[in-house]
Amino acid sequence: MYQTLLTALEDNIFTITINRPDKLNALNKMVMEELSKAIDEVYTENEIRSVIITGAGAKSFVAGADISEFVGLSVDEGKALAEKGQQIFMKIENSPKPVIAAVNGFALGGGCELAMACHFRIASDNANFGQPEVNLGLIPGYGGTQRLVQLIGKGRAIETLLSANMIDASTALKYGLVNYVVPQDELLEKAKSILLVINTKAPIAVAECIKAANAVYDEIKNGYFVEINGFATCFGTEDMKEGTTAFLEKRKATFKGM
Ligand code: COA
Repeated sequence: MYQTLLTALEDNIFTITINRPDKLNALNKMVMEELSKAIDEVYTENEIRSVIITGAGAKSFVAGADISEFVGLSVDEGKALAEKGQQIFMKIENSPKPVIAAVNGFALGGGCELAMACHFRIASDNANFGQPEVNLGLIPGYGGTQRLVQLIGKGRAIETLLSANMIDASTALKYGLVNYVVPQDELLEKAKSILLVINTKAPIAVAECIKAANAVYDEIKNGYFVEINGFATCFGTEDMKEGTTAFLEKRKATFKGM
């Protein structure tokens, strides 16, 4: 169905694998278009409860936007490229279903930005993160300057942006950029084990948690109001009645997403 992505649905977990290993999974126009379509599937397909984004091969998650497509772009074309990329990554960030990045190697430039747009990240021990755009006379364009500051703090982020230095997996763990570092052959298993737990929770409550947490970084929204509304929304759901009743009846809740 996709030319540059592999997708699989198992146990309600949708795995999207960016599949251009010979180019270290660089994000060319087609990958971005297909990624956008795959995320649309996440929003619309009921069987999808959660998502893993990873890269094909043992070397790279995504080594950035495809640099070969940058040559000869005008200022206006550069602006359009960044706008499109930011739109797609915001769709990931605002997904009502959890999206985890399973970072299996280089996560550079657009690859680091893609990982940071996901709700959280797990890395293999050979992972390396970075925003090397200054080496190209560029800056990140898919949200990297913003999300790197949010995730690791301004001082570390600015040093990383200006130096183009890579952040290795153990440092990424120390910085809070990733939640776990595991051997590469355990990476997908680890991501799946976390999502299998999340998949048992009430889907509307899960979506409202994501919405409220995202509001922290949204200057237009007041996160506390978003939380009040999310809390209230849950009171109108069958799942909240089921969850509270199940607790009081000392049984396990079964959620329907309603
Ligand atoms: N865009 C386009 N092609 C890329 C790419 C990118 N971002 N990153 C890697 N590739 C391609 C290389 O051109 C090479 O293609 P070729 O075999 O046809 O020559 C192939 O992927 C393998 O990469 P190579 O550089 O040979 O691997 P390496 O192990 O020597 O180095 C990196 C790995 C990640 C350090 C190096 O590829 C790199 O610096 N990539 C660019 C990172 C970057 O600047 N990203 C931000 C872009 S805005």
